[in-house]
Amino acid sequence: MSVRYVEDKKTFILQTNHCTYQMKISDYDYLLHLYYGERIDDEDLSYLIQPQDRGFSPNPNEVGNDRTFSLDVFPQEFSSDGCCDYRISSIEVKNGDGSYAFLGKVTDYKIYPGKYHLEGLPTLFPSENDTVDTLEIWLKDVSSKVTVILCYSVFEEKDIITRAVKVLNESENTMYLNRIMSATIDFMESDFDFVHFDGRHTMERNLTREPIAYGVQSVGSARGASSHQHNPFVILCDHNANEDVGNCYGFSFVYSGNFRCEVEKDQFDQTRIQFGINPKGFSYQLKSGEKFTAPEVVLAYSSQGFSKLSHLYHDVFRENLCRSPWVNKMRPVVINSWEATYFDFDDEKLLDIAKKSVDMGVDLFVLDDGWFGKRDSDSSGLGDWKVNTKKIKRGLKGLADEINKMGLKFGLWIEPEMVSEDSDLYRTHPDWCLTIPGRAATRGRYQLVLDLSRKDVCDYIIREINQVLESANIEYIKWDMNRNITEVWSHVVEPEKQGEIYHRYILGLYYIMDHIILEHPNILFGGCAGGGGRFDPGMLYYHPQIWCSDNTDAVNRLMIQYGTSFAYPISTIESHVSVCPNHQTGRSVSLETRGVVAMDGIFGFELDSTKMAEEDKEICRKQSEFYKKHYDLIVKGDYYRLTDPFENKEYAAWQHVSKDQKEALVSLVLTEKEPNAPQRYLRFKGLDSTAFYHIAGDDRTYSGKVLMTVGVPIPNLAQYESIQYYLKKIEEGKNG
Ligand code: GLA
Repeated sequence: MSVRYVEDKKTFILQTNHCTYQMKISDYDYLLHLYYGERIDDEDLSYLIQPQDRGFSPNPNEVGNDRTFSLDVFPQEFSSDGCCDYRISSIEVKNGDGSYAFLGKVTDYKIYPGKYHLEGLPTLFPSENDTVDTLEIWLKDVSSKVTVILCYSVFEEKDIITRAVKVLNESENTMYLNRIMSATIDFMESDFDFVHFDGRHTMERNLTREPIAYGVQSVGSARGASSHQHNPFVILCDHNANEDVGNCYGFSFVYSGNFRCEVEKDQFDQTRIQFGINPKGFSYQLKSGEKFTAPEVVLAYSSQGFSKLSHLYHDVFRENLCRSPWVNKMRPVVINSWEATYFDFDDEKLLDIAKKSVDMGVDLFVLDDGWFGKRDSDSSGLGDWKVNTKKIKRGLKGLADEINKMGLKFGLWIEPEMVSEDSDLYRTHPDWCLTIPGRAATRGRYQLVLDLSRKDVCDYIIREINQVLESANIEYIKWDMNRNITEVWSHVVEPEKQGEIYHRYILGLYYIMDHIILEHPNILFGGCAGGGGRFDPGMLYYHPQIWCSDNTDAVNRLMIQYGTSFAYPISTIESHVSVCPNHQTGRSVSLETRGVVAMDGIFGFELDSTKMAEEDKEICRKQSEFYKKHYDLIVKGDYYRLTDPFENKEYAAWQHVSKDQKEALVSLVLTEKEPNAPQRYLRFKGLDSTAFYHIAGDDRTYSGKVLMTVGVPIPNLAQYESIQYYLKKIEEGKNG
């Protein structure tokens, strides 16, 4: 078993193929953290805790005169609050008597094969070939009778440990949970950099890296969605860690709402990291006997830098996260109507675009926003999910049938969580929105947010959207969400429970997706939130792919896709070729390069095919063909970032290598042209160093070793020109 309790040492040991995690029940039954890192044998690491008398670090009552036992100093698995520990805490409870205190002691534990279950929340699940074991540890506060259950599941071969927390109110009183962190890890040192992924609408997931400093550093979202601004994925790493070397610890939160990750460097140069629901606006009432379940954090450790860390996340997210059968199927090449028409179309125009895209290798036509209700601009119609027959005279079925006749699948855009004030839905049910009576509602993109904490609202959405899905042969859905939440107040909940609404909204959203997405396994669902405003594992549980950004500029995309790739596999990143000058930036980049960049993801088009020259369409056809031919390599292979586009302004390069190292695809875009520039060389990664490779279009062969240590000269490219190298391993007896 990958989880063991060593009775005589009182240690819990979690082992994966390459990492070890160790905890200990201390004297007086506190749960201390001992180690997380490179795999070691089942050796007892209790000696790492060196008790000392530390001034102004208090001691629990039962230790008597022992001033060396302080929970303000010892590394813990789940820190107390209001008693003995002044660092950031794992929990904040307001007890029935008004006190803010929690001091948990181990009362029980359970080890079992398989994975724990979190009611109403997405989580990783074991796939066929995985060995997964689970440990649950009960920590009880004897005074308040609040019990916390710490859950750990170990994916042995995947080198992944997941964590979650449940809180039970076993007292007679009502209590309030104001903070609950799903994972806390106390490292006994602080030589780390904190890496996070920040940005804004149309420029998501830029990498930020800074050494941790005394005090608390944090990233998070209080927008009701995981957000464009920060991503629920962070890394703690050695100062010298890079793509290939160094210790890296990844933390990924399987949740699509408010989150916070905090890192504290304490007075003794120790580091505490915590990840959980953002405490801002959060206060969850627990009556006697009630339970709260906090979402899951996915931990990964690499001793070999960021590439290895990314491979761990890519593999586990590809194989153990998404419920859709589409996750392993070849995804269709899409043409999306948004940048082609915006709101200005009728069915003839749409059919024309579809028809003219058939010979570009497109498999799926997606009708974006504007097909329903009174939706001629973004100021009206949301909520009225009935086709607008003024624009689409044939109706959805008629349109889908025509498109199917062309040999294309038909897909549709929806934004079910929102409502326009100018809509029949709002006129009938103004109280279905998150608004505060007596307070003017804040608008975002002219729209309001439906109150998904209400079951009646969720059930209405499920009915309406399911009707749409059944009204025509719809094989793809783009599920959008285009504003963040404000005035978080539900019209049907008593004042003491209003602090639950942010979280209940997300539970409502997952409930809706359970009933729409999981009940339509044949439909491919793509997530979207104004592009990448909700690019998180919670969403990936439902959507195998997500529109990465509303920014389709190929040069900006190099950065956005770079940042996204640290945690998320290529199979999740939707990326399209659009027109030039680009609609977001005005920049012009060759069609070839736009194709190369879009191929670093789930490939498609976002343009008006009726306005394209035949030779450009031929380029697109070849791109689709190339992409489909190398689909498995691109989407299922190991991914290597060869450059950092934030550092290297000259060129950006990346590589896909098949798991068996038999083939690879290297792509490079020249981003800054200088005249008479120095010769540069590109070194590849992840190849079999003992094998020889043939590069398509090149007469000679190269050893994997030479390609990785010496490299190839980068040709003299023009600004924004690109090049791709397709490598094939030369097998003995074959290829000469
Ligand atoms: C969002 C999406 C776009 C498009 C529009 C439609 O911004 O990210 O791709 O679907 O909405 O309104």
